[in-house]
Amino acid sequence: MLEAIEIVPDVYWVGGIDWNERYFHGYTTERGSTYNAYLIVDEKVALIDTCKVPFADDLLERVRSVVDPARIDYIVSNHGEPDHSGALPRVVAAAPNARVVVGAGKGEEILRAYYGDGLDLMSVKTGDELVLGERTLTFVQTPMVHWPDNMVTYDAFDKVLFSNDAFGQHLATSKRFDDEVGLPEVLLQAKKYYANIVMPYSRQVRKALDAVEGLDLAMIAPSHGVIWRSHVGDILREYAGWCANEPDEAAVVVYDSMWHTTEAMAKAAAEAFVERGVPVRLLDVKRNHISDIMTEVLDAKYIAVGSPTLNNSMMPTVAEFLCYFKGLAPKGRVGLAFGSYGWAPVGPNEVAAQLEAAKVAQPVEPVTRQWGDDGTAQVAMAEAVAALAQV
Ligand code: FEO
Repeated sequence: MLEAIEIVPDVYWVGGIDWNERYFHGYTTERGSTYNAYLIVDEKVALIDTCKVPFADDLLERVRSVVDPARIDYIVSNHGEPDHSGALPRVVAAAPNARVVVGAGKGEEILRAYYGDGLDLMSVKTGDELVLGERTLTFVQTPMVHWPDNMVTYDAFDKVLFSNDAFGQHLATSKRFDDEVGLPEVLLQAKKYYANIVMPYSRQVRKALDAVEGLDLAMIAPSHGVIWRSHVGDILREYAGWCANEPDEAAVVVYDSMWHTTEAMAKAAAEAFVERGVPVRLLDVKRNHISDIMTEVLDAKYIAVGSPTLNNSMMPTVAEFLCYFKGLAPKGRVGLAFGSYGWAPVGPNEVAAQLEAAKVAQPVEPVTRQWGDDGTAQVAMAEAVAALAQV
């Protein structure tokens, strides 16, 4: 029997725990995830978000441990992505009198596109309120954190912000609160989540932070992972730092190699960063998932990417990383392309072109080396890093 978990009096977590989720469209979730929904029992009963389809039964069972789902008056859909709305048809069937509260415009459009015109939608805009009894919910639309429809819901009575994707972590745990898991683990997962999901939308994150800045917050209850209760200030500070696009004086060197020449160049770059006092991570794309590399990129100003030439192109592993990197669009980065070749330096030049397409500043030309290295390329790498670190 699954039970609801009361997070404050009369407000319950009723979500699903996805212990074995390991891949979330391109992002490795080594600790699984959760799809959080919250039940508020006041004179009116409100459910905040639903969950992924396979967890619909879990959600309804947890709701039933508190109230008959037929008593739900409102289902607030903060975001239409199916990890939060997939169970909506099942929940609506169990709660036939419920109105679905959704952000005006894109929120309505997305829910209708996925679930048809049969839903009883009640659209809301920033500042709109919904009285439940003692509690009044206030809505704030936060477009592009992470789809155009996103909004957050604030319960001033309990001082809880239901933030949906914002401040989430892909972290499956039997614990529901940040202090029960421990800050380092939660922050690490929040950082990976930001780097791989939220990073392209830093401007919108800043706006969302401004919109919630004046709120009295005892808890931030996201739609993934644990609830921020003891470390609300910490996660707000981290988000403010991440969205400022002012990465640390730190470097990430990413490479693949066939016969170790590009690898030797990568090691020379890493050593040159160390000599200049710049913390560095040296990451072989064959041995590090691109989503973990991006977590390192979040804090690093410098990005050096190396590929030899393979079949008149860069290595597919490096191309995959650069495609993902460009999509996540880190800003304010300084880059260096490098790599070895046999008869044409196509690989490193393609890396440079992709870094340029990703709007990474490249103050020096790609460093290339034909066949094996006699040490010359390693010296050239050290000189290139020295030029880079002066930017
Ligand atoms: Fe967790 Fe954008 O959905």
